[in-house]
Amino acid sequence: MSKKLFIETLGCQMNVRDSEHMIAELNAKEPYELTTNSAEADLIIINTCSVRERPVHKLFSELGVFNKKKKEGAKIGVAGCTASHLGKDIIKRAPYVNFVLGARNVSKIAEVVDKDKSVEIDINYDESDFAFKDFRSSPFKAFINISIGCDKSCTFCIVPKTRGDEISIPADLIVREVEKAVVTGVKEVFLLGQNVNNYGRRFSGEHTKVNFTELLRMVSGVVGLERIRFTSPHPLHMDDEFIEEFASNPKICKSMHVPLQSGSTEILKEMKRGYTQEWFLNRVEKLREMAPGVSISTDIIVGFPGESDADFAETMKVAAEAKFEQMFSFKYSPRPHTEAAEYSNIVDGEVASARLHQLQDFQDTVVDTVMSAQVGKVHQVYFEELRAEGFVAGRSDNNFLVKVKGSEELLGQIQPVKIISSARMSLMGELLA
Ligand code: SAH
Ligand code: F3S
Repeated sequence: MSKKLFIETLGCQMNVRDSEHMIAELNAKEPYELTTNSAEADLIIINTCSVRERPVHKLFSELGVFNKKKKEGAKIGVAGCTASHLGKDIIKRAPYVNFVLGARNVSKIAEVVDKDKSVEIDINYDESDFAFKDFRSSPFKAFINISIGCDKSCTFCIVPKTRGDEISIPADLIVREVEKAVVTGVKEVFLLGQNVNNYGRRFSGEHTKVNFTELLRMVSGVVGLERIRFTSPHPLHMDDEFIEEFASNPKICKSMHVPLQSGSTEILKEMKRGYTQEWFLNRVEKLREMAPGVSISTDIIVGFPGESDADFAETMKVAAEAKFEQMFSFKYSPRPHTEAAEYSNIVDGEVASARLHQLQDFQDTVVDTVMSAQVGKVHQVYFEELRAEGFVAGRSDNNFLVKVKGSEELLGQIQPVKIISSARMSLMGELLA
């Protein structure tokens, strides 16, 4: 009988892919069956995120619950970014934890699972064969790593300390991965990296020199592939050539994540983001001009140290001008090993919360306008998921969640859909065919 694996994945899409990678590595060693019930698992893994403060005690209380309920002899492992930065302290505080595996070390899962109290957190570890394990959580789309780590030093961000320096995976290997996925019926690939459009600066093995724009061209040459998405690009590296390729290549989905962080040029400087408000707005304008119908999403942090009312007003101004189709907004959270955690000009927590509300309330009005304007339009929808009450859901090319009445046969198909009604998070449509 195969062993049972319970895996909880927190955080970003890189973590989703890392979890797939761990499942694949484990299965290469012996068969595991996934379970959603930790009490029946032989192996319990939490794949953690540390970008914002999820109080450490919450991780330990969750681990405590797993430990209490686990079946006899079951193992518990902590993986991901919190594992990278807390390391062996995790085992000190929770001695029943069997192993700690950093975000840059997930391919070592099959080794550590048999070594008790193993701690692998080397952030310079070269996981060159990162992309090549075959477990996929969706039969319709494939997450493919194109780079790991991050070379930037945004002063709020812990990621370079947990995922290490940036290395790019050679382009021919990425193309081979895409081809492998397409053969299994996948129509859409999701290229992943912390800073995808910085691709090509330092490679992890034998390679020909290519930048991200060239990589996009190469990937789009794969016959049978219909859609390319990627995350996350950095506004600083959005040169004209990149935007032109994005706009003109029909396989590249017209939705782009453009993480603003702050609308104030002064705060951007303190964050070491490398661009100004003007540059950011200019890139948004160029994107909207070159790729009509594009959806732009963003990340914004409010209450960064030193953020004045006037700085926050600049963020509101950019939100009003850019009219993002989607926004992920967060209250600044000081993180260990980051420069900004040492800054003394802290913004009062209540002031930051009030700003966050103001921004989110405004964004809701933008989204409501965007969504209701879709009614009557036709979107190409890739159906991926069965929903309750006879609905099937998928994503439009520009990333709106669209639902239609239908059944299983629709899964895996790309179909034109006419939008008949809208809500804040999704659209309802009718198949045209
Ligand atoms: N380049 C990465 C960024 C990872 S962090 C990417 O691919 O998305 C994801 C988002 O979390 C960031 O864009 C930022 O808006 C937010 N974030 C990071 N550090 C933060 C902190 N200390 N406090 C609040 N939000 C933070
Ligand atoms: Fe973090 Fe900035 Fe890199 S947000 S992941 S240091 S681009």
